[in-house]
Amino acid sequence: MEILAVFLVGLCCVLQSSGIEVEALENNGCQNFQPHTVMMQEKQSYRTSFHFQPPRNWLNDPNGPMWYKGVYHLFYQYNPYGALFGDFMIWAHSVSYDLINWIHLNHALCPTEPYDINSCWSGSATILPGKGPVILYTGIDANHCQVQNMAMPKNLSDPFLEEWIKFAQNPIMTPPDGVEGNNFRDPTTAWLSHDGKWSVIIGSWNNNQGMAILYRSEDFFNWTKYQDPLYSTERTGMWECPDFYPVSVNSTDGVDTSVLNAGVKHVMKASFNSHDYYMIGTYVPEIEKYIPDNDFTGTGMDLRYDHGKFYASKTFFDSVKNRRILWGWVNESDSIEDDMDKGWSGLQSIPRHIWLDRSGKQLVQWPIEEINKLHGKKVSFLDKKIDSESIFEVEGITAAQLILSYFVLTQMHQSKADWVHLVY
Ligand SMILES: *[C@@H]1O[C@H](CO)[C@@H](O)[C@H](O)[C@H]1NC(C)=O
Ligand SMILES: *[C@@H]1O[C@H](CO)[C@@H](O)[C@H](O)[C@H]1NC(C)=O
Ligand SMILES: *[C@@H]1O[C@H](CO)[C@@H](O)[C@H](O)[C@H]1NC(C)=O
Ligand SMILES: *[C@@H]1O[C@H](CO)[C@@H](O)[C@H](O)[C@H]1NC(C)=O
Repeated sequence: MEILAVFLVGLCCVLQSSGIEVEALENNGCQNFQPHTVMMQEKQSYRTSFHFQPPRNWLNDPNGPMWYKGVYHLFYQYNPYGALFGDFMIWAHSVSYDLINWIHLNHALCPTEPYDINSCWSGSATILPGKGPVILYTGIDANHCQVQNMAMPKNLSDPFLEEWIKFAQNPIMTPPDGVEGNNFRDPTTAWLSHDGKWSVIIGSWNNNQGMAILYRSEDFFNWTKYQDPLYSTERTGMWECPDFYPVSVNSTDGVDTSVLNAGVKHVMKASFNSHDYYMIGTYVPEIEKYIPDNDFTGTGMDLRYDHGKFYASKTFFDSVKNRRILWGWVNESDSIEDDMDKGWSGLQSIPRHIWLDRSGKQLVQWPIEEINKLHGKKVSFLDKKIDSESIFEVEGITAAQLILSYFVLTQMHQSKADWVHLVY
């Protein structure tokens, strides 16, 4: 908490002496957020009140979420130069003690080296037991080819992990034979397998198949491609942002990504065709295969996290509260003109607790419990009959500040089922 206090005091000083503009260029042209950008927010229209947003500009995929030394970290794809997606994408970085209130830090990864000079695209964090976190991310290299790179914190004692050092021997993975340079991206959180080796998957498209290419390593530095993908299918597009993790069969608690026993099933998620689709199944490390209970069909019947705007999502295991948390990019889909006008585009979903339904057939999600601290005035009414197509005004609250409303409507006529409807 001391660090937060110091930071806030620092911020207040700058705000009080408004007019000070510090325009330092760091990380080879990758300009960090400046305190005065906080004030600029007021000029930007239609910003959300509670969802995660950077001070300005374009945001897309959540990257490397994790908890480390008492602090939640969220990195995300960010264009430091404008409100649209760009050709100089970076990893911006924010930290929080409660997943609700966020502090924007200096950017974590910016294009600086031949192996990422054209952008630092998505990736994940893995916490190495006894050694701390490591980031795996996709670099767009000098030839516009997608390669996988690694970065480590400069100071493991710093709970904010403010500075990251790129591994001297990057890239650590380049597109394997047959895979085109623009179809090889988005490393997952790695897991420690039955034989003591690390495994990680990379999203790809090869031989008309969407796939999760598997790499293995003894030391986390030297990675070797496994002969076959962990899973591949002709019934999807190119796999973006795959996610692969265990879920408990008999509990809403989450488990660490490396857990493998009779008490878990495995979720495989892939992003394609503008949606996040998933399967539930069994991971068999002895043959390095993922065997889904229900394969992707390539039809509208496949399981999805969300039927609205929700893409490129990523989960992480929160070891403090023993839960798995899901973040997703909400692509608002405003026009280019509107994005430029408002000066920003995109937000992150409210983080969601995610677990396996008792049926074992689908996942269940709910906004994290911390969201309750944002609730203001509570308005409730009972036994209120609402006629179809009628308008019922809920008095005493303003919709502009309504983050989440929760209706339980009992349908009197057709069934006894309770209908629960969530509005964000
Ligand atoms: C590392 O971080 C710790 C905790 O923030 C700090 O006390 C220490 O001075 C840092 N070390 C260096 C070399 O910056
Ligand atoms: C990398 O790992 C592979 C497979 O485990 C091994 O054959 C090779 O010698 C290793 N290379 C280095 C430089 O350690
Ligand atoms: C859940 O299943 C695991 C493995 O079968 C078992 O060890 C554990 O006790 C179970 N937990 C509960 C709460 O039933
Ligand atoms: C984001 O929205 C834009 C505008 O509607 C659309 O063209 C694009 O395909 C969307 N991207 C994703 C990943 O949903």
